[in-house]
Amino acid sequence: MNALPGFRDFYPETLAVRRYLFDKWRTTAIRYGFREYDGPPLEPLDLYRLKSGDEIVKQLYNFIDKGEREVALRPEMTPTLARMVGAGHRNYKKPIKWFAIPQLFRYEKQQRGRLREHFQFNADIIGETDVGADAELIALAIDTMRSLGLAEQDVVVRVSDRRAWHRFLTGLGIPDEQLYTAFQAIDKMEREPVEQTRAKLGPVADQVLEFAGQKHPKDELGQLFAQLGPLAKFCEVDFKIVRGLAYYTGIVWEIHDRKGELRAVAGGGRYDNLLKLVGGVDLPALGFGMGDVVLTELLKDRGLLPAYNAGLDCFVVIADETLRLPALQMIHGLREAGISVDYALASDKVGKQFQLAAALGARFAVVVGAQEWPGGEVKVKNLATGVEERVAVAEVAKKIS
Ligand code: HAM
Repeated sequence: MNALPGFRDFYPETLAVRRYLFDKWRTTAIRYGFREYDGPPLEPLDLYRLKSGDEIVKQLYNFIDKGEREVALRPEMTPTLARMVGAGHRNYKKPIKWFAIPQLFRYEKQQRGRLREHFQFNADIIGETDVGADAELIALAIDTMRSLGLAEQDVVVRVSDRRAWHRFLTGLGIPDEQLYTAFQAIDKMEREPVEQTRAKLGPVADQVLEFAGQKHPKDELGQLFAQLGPLAKFCEVDFKIVRGLAYYTGIVWEIHDRKGELRAVAGGGRYDNLLKLVGGVDLPALGFGMGDVVLTELLKDRGLLPAYNAGLDCFVVIADETLRLPALQMIHGLREAGISVDYALASDKVGKQFQLAAALGARFAVVVGAQEWPGGEVKVKNLATGVEERVAVAEVAKKIS
């Protein structure tokens, strides 16, 4: 039986890539003073019904549980965060800077860069209206890219502002309740034929397309670019970005590969009303999500994924089966000393044991044989260079580390 469509099996090699990303996400967030949190993967359906917007609700994995509750697997982290902050914010000094690495579930059509589960690095700031907070988050996202070896030739942060869009669309006479529909049409613009976008926008299509073409960082965006300093070279004003989710209220942005071949690597922005709606507390907030799927594809395309390293320091070859028990004692001693050790669990030919050592990527083979053992020694072979030497059992740990 296969895994469900859009769900991944993580074999050790792919899990190592995931761990590599998580490690970079975590260390960069901590370097920026963010603290890690988590929430439940299953939430009340109502948490998403009103707050995330139609698109996400259509993609929910929802069902009725055995207690007759309507529940959903989390499709995004932001509503959970809003709920948690609503309940617990009094215990924390503002601004709150938190990050999480949740696995998320969306019933989407499976395609390049889109699966039905993914891991998403989320970083959010709660309780700060100043544009300095927007700059801090964008800087964190850029430095995360840089820690993975991606430079400004590889990725671009496309920045826009929903307030500017709001002012413009209201000026065109579009009522508030139709703004989200317009935002959705603009959000889809690059992935749909222009006639389709025009049809959705109706009589204001020309003006909207012209507005979407603006490139100049003015007002709040000007301040944002100034605060980003040297990192601003990663950023461009791009009003085609509005974001698909309903709750954004201010500066919004997405990170894309420069060649424009992949879907967005990350997206986020300010959502100053969501906490009031979900958490019952009126606090400004902003954040972003960065997915592992597109990011891994981009790193693979650029040759930036590290080679797989199983991390096995040595493989103990038991060349004489009568020495198994003392060999096991040595193995335990090495493991106590913090060295990773593997060995054949049952009697096997020496050649086979060496083959296994190579297949497991061990750095050293330690051969326990009848010739050396009585003299308190073993043979230690460096499997990369082939160099072999006799080493006293008591010195093996030092030799290998
Ligand atoms: P989002 O744009 O829906 O934002 O997702 C952020 C990123 O997650 C996307 O740019 C993409 O890399 C990845 N992603 C989303 N859906 C999928 C999928 N089906 N398969 C693979 N990757 C995917 C949010 O979720 C917001 N809650 C982010 C946020 C946090 N805003 C404020 N704070």
